[in-house]
Amino acid sequence: MSKVLYLVICAAGPAADAVRLVTAATGRGWDVCVIATPAAADGEFIDRPALEAASGRPVRSTWRRSGEEKRNPPADAVVVAPMTMNSVNKWAAGIADTYALGLVAEAVGLGLPVVALPFWSTALDSHPATRRAVWTLRNSGVRVLYGEGEWMPHPPGTGGERIASYPWSLALDVLADRA
Ligand SMILES: Cc1cc2nc3c(=O)[nH]c(=O)nc-3n(C[C@H](O)[C@H](O)[C@H](O)COP(=O)(O)O)c2cc1C
Repeated sequence: MSKVLYLVICAAGPAADAVRLVTAATGRGWDVCVIATPAAADGEFIDRPALEAASGRPVRSTWRRSGEEKRNPPADAVVVAPMTMNSVNKWAAGIADTYALGLVAEAVGLGLPVVALPFWSTALDSHPATRRAVWTLRNSGVRVLYGEGEWMPHPPGTGGERIASYPWSLALDVLADRA
């Protein structure tokens, strides 16, 4: 049976291209479940039909209701991409007020391989909380793909130019070594 990969999508520009990761992951044998933050799901950041067609599953952004059956198989690994400045800070602070944040917090606690690929500007990066959040997540075992040779923050206003080269496949390469 295929291993299950949860892809958690936050509300940043590369979210529109997240089907690239789904297609690459299914090509590598993963069964992919897509989870979007409410901001990503409601703010027209994602191409929901393309993600659902590529994964074969509905995109989820809310908790199941009490009494409702589990909607996805349990995860074997988690990729958070694109990870926003907002979500990295909330995650590191232990805030779990969305389904996406609750499941990433739990995944770390369960000891699952969790890989995070950020996307934010140097302006958001300069906030001391952002640096601390990356450090905190790394110390909890999350592989944050931040730094030379991985992902680097872009000058404000240039994010659109970085979407095409966003290193989706790096997240899968790292997982192949860990999952
Ligand atoms: C068009 C647009 C582009 C955005 N791009 C980014 C981005 O690249 N990185 C980022 O951290 N936030 C970005 N934001 C802000 C986030 O969408 C916002 O902080 C949101 O609350 C994040 O929610 P989430 O972390 O729950 O997905 C953008 C917002 C808009 C409207």
